[in-house]
Order: sequence, then C-alpha cells, then structure tokens
Amino acid sequence: MVEYAPVSTAPYAPLVDAFGRQMGDLRISITDRCNFRCVYCMPEEGLKWLSNERVLTFEEIARLAQIFVRLGIRGIRLTGGEPTVRKGLPDLIRMLGPLAEEGLESLSLTTNGFTLREQARDLAAAGLTRINVSLDSLMREKFHRITRRDCLQRVLDGLEALEQYPSIAPIKVNAVAIRGFTEDEVIPFAELARRRPYVVRFIEFMPLDADGNWRREQVLAGREIYEMIHRWLPLEPVQTVASSTSRVYRFADGIGEVGFINPVSEPFCSSCDRLRLTADGQVRTCLFSIDEWDLRGPMRAGASDADLVSIIRLAVGHKELKHRINEGPAFQRASRSMSQIGG
Ligand code: 5AD
Ligand code: SF4
Repeated sequence: MVEYAPVSTAPYAPLVDAFGRQMGDLRISITDRCNFRCVYCMPEEGLKWLSNERVLTFEEIARLAQIFVRLGIRGIRLTGGEPTVRKGLPDLIRMLGPLAEEGLESLSLTTNGFTLREQARDLAAAGLTRINVSLDSLMREKFHRITRRDCLQRVLDGLEALEQYPSIAPIKVNAVAIRGFTEDEVIPFAELARRRPYVVRFIEFMPLDADGNWRREQVLAGREIYEMIHRWLPLEPVQTVASSTSRVYRFADGIGEVGFINPVSEPFCSSCDRLRLTADGQVRTCLFSIDEWDLRGPMRAGASDADLVSIIRLAVGHKELKHRINEGPAFQRASRSMSQIGG
C-alpha cells in the first residue's frame, strides 16, 4: 500500500534568514495612533499620525497575514500604537480566525487596557485567545506620570473584566522597568501575580522612545528584579520554548508566575524568530531596523501573492544579526519609535 504524506498547508518553503533563524512570529501593527502617551514610547504631543489611506485595510492585513502563515508564521500578535482604538478590531480578529486551519497556532493582542472594560466581551466573542496588557505602575500618581493619563483604575477594571473570559488565557501583564521608577513597584507587582491569574512580566527599557531620552543608567536589569523578588519569596524556573523572549518563574509555593524580558542585559537575538508589519504595510525585521520593505505599494499596484512572497523573502534575507544597544557608538537608533513600529 502507498503511504501518503500528510497534506501540507504551507505551500511555500519556510522563511529562514541568513543566520539560519526560521521566522515563526509576526507582529502586525494595525494603527500608529494611541490614547496614551507613555514617556518611554511617545512624545507628549506632536507625533504625526499616518493618514488613513496609508494604513492597511483589514482586507489587506488579512491577505498578508495569510501569506505569512503559509510561509510558516505560527503566531500573530496585533499591536499598535494602541490596537483597540482602531474601529472594528473584533471584526479583524474574526477575519483572521480561519488562519488556524492553515497552521496559525496563536492570535494575540497587545493593549494598554484602556478600553478592555467595554471591549473584553467582544474580543473574547471574536475568538481572541491571548492578551498582553501593559501596566507600568500600580500607583495612581505614578501611572499618571508614566502614561501621561490618569486612568490606573480603568486599566485594573479592564483586567478584571478579562478574567470573566477564560478563553483568553494566559493574561499577561507587561511592565516596562525603569531604574528610579520601578524598584518600589517590584514587590507589589509580584503580589499582583500571586493574587490574580496574571503572568506579570518586566521588560527592560529599550532606546525606542520618541523623545530620545533613553539612557543606559535607566535600564533596570531583569536579573536585579528577579533577585528582589526571589529574596522576598523563592522562585523556580518554568520551562519555555527556545524562541521565547521571556524567562518565566513560578513561586515555589505554586501561586503565581512572573517573567523577565531582558533584551538589553541578556540579548536573545540569536533565537529571534520575529518579523513586524507596520500599520502602513512595511516589513521590519528588527525593532532597531533602519530599513523597511514595502508591501503596501506593490500590493496596491496589483502584486500577486508570489510577488509579495519574494519581497518578504528579500526582507528576511536581510534580517539583522542582532541589535547593537550594547556596542556604544555602533548603536544607531531605529528609524521609527515604538508606537510607530508596533510593540
Ligand atoms: N522599551 C521597552 N518596552 C517598550 N514598550 C514600548 N516602548 C518601550 C521601550 N522603550 C512596550 C510597552 C508595551 C509594548 C507595546 O511595548 O511595554 O507593552
Ligand atoms: Fe501607547 Fe503603548 Fe506607546 Fe504607551 S507604550 S504610548 S500605550 S503605544
């Protein structure tokens, strides 16, 4: 009897870069706009928004997402700016749902949580299964200072609203850690991870702020935070996949998890499997890329899927070996700031 190989749903060869890294994760920014003005990301005012016609439509996003999945992308994360400010976000999530049949394993959302109180239900109904909520302080005044918005309670309410939808799990809470700001929040955040079903993750501050104020001294290394928590209550490591950017720990007594994303002090570039698609349809192969690869122009000019695949392969072929944050003068700031790239 003839044995048939299972039908592959990926008609294209996987995306492998010049250093042998296979791309598995795509961040799609669906808007460059945001209702917050976090100091480590945006200027207080004056950032110019993309005009509407430059932003990809949901149909264009869905087409590109399908191509990426056929190229082996297994995780898609929707980001911004703030993705929930784009009208119809649940519709987009619904449109991307069928990609699960082509191999997409996870569809997630990164949000500042401002609209979750109202939107959690619609997001869950649309089929969202994973979420990251940014939350940098548990103190009202400090939250206000870092986001330039006085709405801590609203975000906490949003997180609580999420807990009613067990199909969205895990709920990850991301805090950018800044020296001189975060130290006295470390234990309160660890307590939050014990009290609520959230994985609380600390992210090292990177030079991606629009104001250009980042200084190396402001980086509070994940290791230091780990030690602060571990001294308070013992932690033990949780196994994660190789391409994972975070080191995850559980409390030894089994209640709660915390994670550390240490791009500055412990770069994970050698296992980076990420690509980014900006709201205006440019492929970026690194947060710190200087160059971008335009998909929107060719797509609107009638490019076939095969044409778009060629551009994506070209981009991936030029993926940066690593960031150069720690290389002094060799470091060049990225060509866009975080809200314009997509976290
Ligand atoms: N350094 C580290 N993380 C950042 N983010 C935004 N700007 C920076 C920065 N300069 C993160 C936020 C948010 C996500 C969208 O990106 O924490 O969770
Ligand atoms: Fe908006 Fe997120 Fe940037 Fe804060 S970090 S300003 S919430 S895009």
